[in-house]
Amino acid sequence: MRWIVFALGVSVSVPTQADEYNLTPTQFVYCTVCHGVELKGNKSVDAPKLNGLAQWYVLSQLQAFKSGWRGSHSNDLTGMEMKPMAVVLTDKQLAQAAAYVTSIPTHAAPATVHGDPIRGENLYSTCAVCHGPRAQGDEALHAPQLAGQSDWYLVRQLEKYQTGIRGSSPGDAWGAQMRSSALVLADKRAVTDVVAYINTLQTAK
Ligand code: HEC
Ligand code: HEC
Repeated sequence: MRWIVFALGVSVSVPTQADEYNLTPTQFVYCTVCHGVELKGNKSVDAPKLNGLAQWYVLSQLQAFKSGWRGSHSNDLTGMEMKPMAVVLTDKQLAQAAAYVTSIPTHAAPATVHGDPIRGENLYSTCAVCHGPRAQGDEALHAPQLAGQSDWYLVRQLEKYQTGIRGSSPGDAWGAQMRSSALVLADKRAVTDVVAYINTLQTAK
């Protein structure tokens, strides 16, 4: 094990590569240090809810952090908190971590963002093409589930796409697609309205 200490005062021990063959999925319980009990999310350290996300998407994001497509932009402070968590894991461990995340039961996150869901519904019609009419996600288009996720995190990711902190690394074709979609949202109000509408789609699986 090796210890990593973050600016926010969080310190976690992560497996070294030598631990790889001793790992069992329960050893990823340290992910809850930031992502919260049952991976429900923890806004105080900017770590989103993970339970409910599809295994393919969790794995793809862990790979994105490890390869540096995500979490490398100099203004991506919260991405930089997560990136070292993926960098220290082998490819096999990334797959194990994704399996661990999807083994946790899911409940919708509480709504904290307040906007106009009626206006948001209108805006969401462009999003539905990829994320699905109930924001349930679509693996074929690589678009994750949005319903039931931490709403404050969805707002922040949309802002990151808009400013190019996420989705502008060379080679990040999926992120680039999402970036151009985020730019359709004209202002902050449009972002909170669309997220307020997504909050109404909290379908339990
Ligand atoms: C030191 C705190 C910390 C630890 C420990 C941590 N994470 Fe994270 N993680 C974060 C933060 C902060 C973000 C949000 C990054 C952003 O804002 O772009 C994040 C984002 C993610 C995402 C992206 C979610 C999405 O919807 O795109 C995944 C997947 C993830 N973490 C998985 C894990 C797994 C699996 C573990 C354990 C192996 C783990 N994290 C451990 C802080 C942490
Ligand atoms: C052309 C298809 C497409 C459209 C249209 C689209 N998205 Fe996405 N979206 C994606 C893809 C693909 C990703 C995952 C990118 C990646 O792998 O990093 C994504 C990721 C996201 C994320 C990050 C989720 C997370 O867990 O980190 C948010 C938030 C999001 N989209 C919201 C929206 C909203 C709101 C709209 C409408 C304004 C929208 N998307 C329209 C394809 C799309």
